[in-house]
Amino acid sequence: MRDKIVAGNWKMNLTRQAGLSLVDEIYRGLNLDDTTDVKVVVAPPFPFLFEMRDWINPETLLFLSAQNCHQEKNGAFTGAVSAEMLASYDCTYCIVGHSERREYFGEDDKLINQKIQRLLENSIKPIYCCGESLEERESEKHFEVVAAQIQSAFQGFKKQELLNVVVAYEPVWAIGTGKTATPEQAQEMHAFIRQKLSQVLGDEAEEISILYGGSVKPENAKELFSQKDIDGGLIGGASLNANQFLSIIHSF
Ligand code: 13P
Repeated sequence: MRDKIVAGNWKMNLTRQAGLSLVDEIYRGLNLDDTTDVKVVVAPPFPFLFEMRDWINPETLLFLSAQNCHQEKNGAFTGAVSAEMLASYDCTYCIVGHSERREYFGEDDKLINQKIQRLLENSIKPIYCCGESLEERESEKHFEVVAAQIQSAFQGFKKQELLNVVVAYEPVWAIGTGKTATPEQAQEMHAFIRQKLSQVLGDEAEEISILYGGSVKPENAKELFSQKDIDGGLIGGASLNANQFLSIIHSF
């Protein structure tokens, strides 16, 4: 059985106090519900990671993620954070390849491939983001684009390593726009991604969790999550509100 995961990507939002209140509300919301088997992940900004560890509790299925890491092991890279540092802060996951990193920080799949390498060396599960732009979808290049992203990001890894990766399909046109992919569009791409992964992993591609991201809200989560190949969500805006985030988790 593959993991069901709902991850909140806080991006560059909130202050220390607001972040602590939010994680506390999420934690309490989860404790009240002892039936959920969904892994809940919070991905706060780097400075919050230290204190957030106090809320991390595998029994309530609450885990910590970073939003990024540097591709080198260590060294003179002012302002950067290494995978080894994240491991020492008990991060179970780390988001890599988010479209905002690709667009605003010029990251490409070759670089992301190196970051995945660093994360796996430190036993952190990468949440690898892929997805096409609006222009690519409108010109019907979306499958080609996502296939190429996956091919270069996962190049050179052994099967055993790739089994630790989580994939997040985030069509760029759906991020923060209020436009969600229809459940059919999302399912179609998730099945395609799983089929691509099966070329390397064989039947074990069934074990990989593939999350959908892009304007997931309490109103659309249930239908998205009921699709065969959608194993959860990577949530931006709605993860900043405990009630909305908990409602998305409970829609499984
Ligand atoms: P929104 O849920 O705000 O569209 O953001 C999605 C996202 O980018 C999560 O990583």
